[in-house]
Amino acid sequence: MKTISDGLRRRGAGALLLLLTTGPLMLAQPGNGVNLQIKADQITAHMPPTFHGLMTEEINYAFEGGLYAELIRNRNFKETVPARQNRQDPQQSTPAKETKDLVHWSLVQERGGTGSMTLDTSAPLNAAVPASLKLTISQASGEQKVGVANDGFWGIPTKPNTTYKAMLYAKAAAGFTGGVTASIVSNDGAAVAATAQVPKLTEGWQKYELTLKTGNVKASAENRFVLTANKPGTLWFGFVSLFPPTYKNRANGFRQDIMDLLAAMKPQFLRFPGGNYLEGNTFNTRFNWKNTIGPIEERPGHMNDAWGYWSSDGMGLLEYLGWCEDLNMEPVLAVFAGYSLRGQKVKAGPELDVFVKEAIEEIEYVSGDGNTTWGARRARDGHPAPFKLRYVEIGNEDFFDREAGSYNNRFTPFYDAIKAKYPNLQIIESSGNVATTLTSRTPDVTDEHYYRGSDEMAFNANNYDSRSRGGRGGRGGPGGAAATPPPATPRVFVGEWATRVGAPTPNLEAAIADAANMAGLERNADLVIMHCYAPLFVNVNPGAMQWTTDLIGYDTMTAYGSPAYWAQQMFANHTGDSVVNISASGLPYREYVQGGRGRGGFPGATQAAPAPNALVPPTPMPRAMPDMFFSATKDSDTVYVKIVNRSAVPQLVHITVSGLKSIAPNGKTIILSTASINDTNSITEPHKVEPVTAGVAGLGPEFNRTVPANSITVLELSGK
Ligand code: AHR
Repeated sequence: MKTISDGLRRRGAGALLLLLTTGPLMLAQPGNGVNLQIKADQITAHMPPTFHGLMTEEINYAFEGGLYAELIRNRNFKETVPARQNRQDPQQSTPAKETKDLVHWSLVQERGGTGSMTLDTSAPLNAAVPASLKLTISQASGEQKVGVANDGFWGIPTKPNTTYKAMLYAKAAAGFTGGVTASIVSNDGAAVAATAQVPKLTEGWQKYELTLKTGNVKASAENRFVLTANKPGTLWFGFVSLFPPTYKNRANGFRQDIMDLLAAMKPQFLRFPGGNYLEGNTFNTRFNWKNTIGPIEERPGHMNDAWGYWSSDGMGLLEYLGWCEDLNMEPVLAVFAGYSLRGQKVKAGPELDVFVKEAIEEIEYVSGDGNTTWGARRARDGHPAPFKLRYVEIGNEDFFDREAGSYNNRFTPFYDAIKAKYPNLQIIESSGNVATTLTSRTPDVTDEHYYRGSDEMAFNANNYDSRSRGGRGGRGGPGGAAATPPPATPRVFVGEWATRVGAPTPNLEAAIADAANMAGLERNADLVIMHCYAPLFVNVNPGAMQWTTDLIGYDTMTAYGSPAYWAQQMFANHTGDSVVNISASGLPYREYVQGGRGRGGFPGATQAAPAPNALVPPTPMPRAMPDMFFSATKDSDTVYVKIVNRSAVPQLVHITVSGLKSIAPNGKTIILSTASINDTNSITEPHKVEPVTAGVAGLGPEFNRTVPANSITVLELSGK
């Protein structure tokens, strides 16, 4: 986040305009401009401990070539190139490509060395890796070398003075007298960034661990990882892995730059492992958690056909939990519920019981102590301490299962079995978009998803104000935002949502609509207890994206946060512990015209409810939509006021704050705004749209602020 002076340095005139428009301008009287009334002693909700979170799945090369720091692509030689199937984003689908072996591996023959490489099923490393890479060297000696090269995920990144850890399984046929050299080499072969040796191979499989250190090399993605020998003979590689330094040095861990971005969001939970990725196109390609644990060389990997590329399953169940641990997030575990994307499903009975048992065991793996079968297995996998688990979700988007009663029949045995063994677990149902899908049990929480265009998001942003607190089926009914008594279950988890304007990552327009929605979520934190944006990640390299508008972008070398990332950060870093009463009048309005900019209309998404009373426009409009949105929260000594201005002009806001003994005259604003709503961040311009922090004066029980056009403002008041 920038300070005013950073902003001025980076953005020149644009930032100057911002500076001028954020200070107190002319005096507004009630009725002249927008009036905002904050009653800081009227608490309408307590902020849930897991309000702002992350949603994640293997999409857009989120882990492969993304967060999961492995640099070798196709490390167990099983990857093939599939047809892409994409349920929600058919525009992004690509036609089938031919399947071929040893993708991302190529033969190296240097200075007259000759040889060949092939996939060999006669010498498997283990049952999970049934074919190895066989290298036959017919001519090699001294500087004449033959080997294999891996091109990584859009290149192997090199950074100066950095230590890389390689791990490989290799063996040689009798008669081979040489060793193997492992190197990171520039694509043109001219520069070797780092190198290490395996002095001698044996006839049986051996694991080798090597350290490769770069010197003062150029930071570059234009490299390959190369394994060469300079003696004739036959060699096999069973598994090849290479890691750069990881966040907090976690083994089999995560990319530092992306984790730094996530840590700054202060996420409180992680919903995993999907999304469509949980379900797979068919049962065989679901996230089969038991195949994702244990040593990485014993994980078979699987075709992520939901999003059209191979998953090594290096990002397995324990890695998701390790990610939670690294960022102090609570796991929100989604379990497979016997329904896949192409409609394959099982009815309640013995076939479903297999998946119910699988889910119970998964929960035990996560949260059981060392005396349980699966808790003991987790301990053997390197994590003796159980993870705290409070939320389990049954399936993903089961409103897509349109067969009457089908989710009821599948949900019930999961619910009953989980509650019987783990009565304190909160069960989330996944069909929240269609309230009538689940009637057999009352879940603790209902998960609803929405992807909307910017006007569509803003038009719906106040929906929760009028959502019934009376239990299921209360969508759009009358009601208020009173926090006590607590609402009847189920409470709401917005498990996937985003304003889809901008690709690969959202622009400022999307971020502002997101903020409008977040103000609504926050005001209704008695009902909406968790939310997470989706998708979280996109690798911006060519061909890596399946779903447009993703929160964080990266390539092989660097990562950046989109404007929507900053909106999330601004809200999550200024939560307070209580939501307080806020009301507004004199708002600017416009008419909502369906469609608008962005890709919305997500199937089954909740429909717009009438605007709540406080926000009714002064003159009747058939589909009126306010252009400003607000929420206010507080903790013991700070009030956080969020003001979202979607209008194209600065807005003068007259603010009154009651219910505090004192309000310090000096406070702080954090503002996200640039000259154009089309502005965005990118891999080449990562800092174009970032919040600017500034001190403000003249605060008190009654004061004026002018917020910039197209902006998100957090105003921090010190007050008790
Ligand atoms: O976030 C992208 C996809 O949208 C998710 O995989 C799925 O749950 C939803 O339909």
